[in-house]
Amino acid sequence: MTAAADNGYRDRLRGATGTAHVRLDARFAQGLRTAAQYRTYVLGMQAFIANAERALALANLRPAWKAWRDPARTAWLDEDLAAMGIPAMAEGPRMAINGDADAAGLFYVIEGSALGATQLLGDAQALGHGPGTGATFLCRHGGFGAGKRWRAFVADLERADFDTVSERTMLESAARAFASAEHEFHRAELAHQNFTAGR
Ligand code: HEM
Repeated sequence: MTAAADNGYRDRLRGATGTAHVRLDARFAQGLRTAAQYRTYVLGMQAFIANAERALALANLRPAWKAWRDPARTAWLDEDLAAMGIPAMAEGPRMAINGDADAAGLFYVIEGSALGATQLLGDAQALGHGPGTGATFLCRHGGFGAGKRWRAFVADLERADFDTVSERTMLESAARAFASAEHEFHRAELAHQNFTAGR
């Protein structure tokens, strides 16, 4: 049996973004226990993912990376916001993706976010949400098959052959993606406060 390729990209991506992930975790330290926390999560994820999917749709990618472009997630999040009667936020600062390494960093963040989603799904269900009733995104993104998909992604990632400059591009892209997600969760918190105050 041939050993799976391991160029150490995943480890270096995790190293480059670990602190940012800890900050995101701290934002949802208790998980999604309340309706307000859940709405903030969906609102922030919608803005982050919609922005990312728009950038990826415009990117010129080779087939191996194109295969990871999966524009379904924005629609799931839109569906969840509609089910909860919450308007999406205005578009945040635009992302731009320029080539495979740039895309690989963003894909790492999107695909990795499914691991967190597997943990959050139970919280959403406890709040009464399911597929079609506000948790389509978590059920699909973090549901059955998420672990298998992540392992397939990491295998493809480690098979890539980026030179030093491209690797740096990938690491910076992942860090930028986390910064974008943090920004969107911050905006979501404020938008949600305004939304509930106006009701
Ligand atoms: C909001 C609550 C979140 C929780 C509780 C959470 C939790 C987790 C957990 C348990 C893992 C698996 C760690 C492991 O198996 O070693 C993980 C991995 C990851 N998460 Fe999150 N996560 C959350 C949000 C997010 C968000 C919003 C993003 C991105 C926008 C994200 C990006 C990632 C990435 C990239 C990984 C893979 C790290 C690696 O290489 O091991 N997470 N998360």
